Amino acid sequence: MTMKIRGTGSSLPEKAVSNDDLAKIMDTSDEWIRSRTGIGSRHIAVNETTTSMSVDAAQKALADAKMGAEELDLIIVASISTDQCLPSTACEVQAAIGAVNAVAFDINAACSGFLFGLSVANAYFAAGTYEKALVIGAETLSKMMDWNDRGTCVLFGDGAGAAVVEKSDIGLISMIQQSDGTRGGVLSCRNRPVNNPYVQNDTALAFTKMDGQEVYKFAVRTVPKAVSQVLEKGNVSADEVKYFILHQANIRIIDSVAKRLSQPLDKFPTNLQTCGNISAGSVPILLDYVNREGMLMRGDKIVLAGFGAGLTWGAALLVW
Ligand code: COA
Repeated sequence: MTMKIRGTGSSLPEKAVSNDDLAKIMDTSDEWIRSRTGIGSRHIAVNETTTSMSVDAAQKALADAKMGAEELDLIIVASISTDQCLPSTACEVQAAIGAVNAVAFDINAACSGFLFGLSVANAYFAAGTYEKALVIGAETLSKMMDWNDRGTCVLFGDGAGAAVVEKSDIGLISMIQQSDGTRGGVLSCRNRPVNNPYVQNDTALAFTKMDGQEVYKFAVRTVPKAVSQVLEKGNVSADEVKYFILHQANIRIIDSVAKRLSQPLDKFPTNLQTCGNISAGSVPILLDYVNREGMLMRGDKIVLAGFGAGLTWGAALLVW
C-alpha cells in the first residue's frame, strides 16, 4: 500500500445548539435524544458554508503537515451538501488556499465519503499519477433537514475535516469499500426534479428522509464486518489496534461494534456528544481531534470506518 497521513485539520461552526435548545423549537427532549443516540449538542452553520469550513480545515491540515498548498497535486472533497452544483467545492478550496498545481474535484459517498476519498487518492498514488493530496469531508447538513421531522433533524450537525496524505511505503495497510444501491431508499434526499420546457415539475425543496431503524440495523451488521475484513486483509488482530475511529452516527451503534469486535469502549474515541452526525465530516473531524490531543504515537495502528447513505461503507487500517 502506498499512502500515509501527514497532517489533519477541522472546522466547526461557531453556533452550538444543545438538545435543550432544540426542545424550545420542537417537541423533543434532552432525555429522548441522549438516551437513544448519545448526542448532547451539535454545531449549526449560521455564517459558515461547506466551502468556508473546507478551506479552514484544509489550511489547518496543511499547517499540521508543514506543507505548502502549492505542493499539493490533488484535492478531493467528499460532501453531500456542497454550496453549489458548480464549480465544485474542491475547485473553490483550490482557489482559496492557492493550490495552483492541484487537480480538484468532489465526490459523493455520503457518510463513507472521507474513506472513499482516501481510496481514490491511494489509487492515484499507486498508479504513479499524483503524490500529495488533500482529502476533505465537509457538510452543512442543517440546510437539508426538515426541521419539522424530529426523528431526523436532531441527529445531524455541520462541520469539515481534512487530511493531507502522501505517497509512502508505510502507512495504509489495507482498505475496503462497498456499496448497495438496492437499499438506497432508507436514507435519501431528492435533488432538483427534471424540469424544463417539456416537463413541468414542482421544484419544492426536498429534505433528508430516513428509516432510522433500517439504517440502525444496517450499521450494526455491516460495520463490524467491514472492520474485520480490513483487519484480516492486513493480517492484524483487533487487539493490536489502538483506536477504532468510526463514523459518529449513534453511541449505541458504536457500543454494538465494540461488543461484536470484543474490544473495550475506550478504544473507540467519540465526538458525537458535541457534534452529532456530520456525514462525510465525522471521521476526519474525529481523526483531527485524536491527532491534536496527542493520542497517537508514530507506529500506532488505527482503523477508520464510515457507513451511510447509498448504502455505502468502507474501512481502512493504517499505521500512524
Ligand atoms: N424526540 C422525541 N420523540 C421522538 C423524536 C425526538 N427527537 N424522534 C422520534 N420520536 C418519537 C417517535 O415519534 C415515536 O413516537 P411514537 O412511538 O409515539 O410513534 C418514538 O419516538 C419512537 O420512534 P422511533 O423512530 O421508533 O425511535 P427509535 O427507537 O427507532 O430511535 C433513532 C430513532 C433515529 C434514534 C434510531 O432509529 C437510530 O439511531 N437509527 C440510526 C440512524 C442513523 O444513525 N442514521 C445515520 C446513519 S449514517
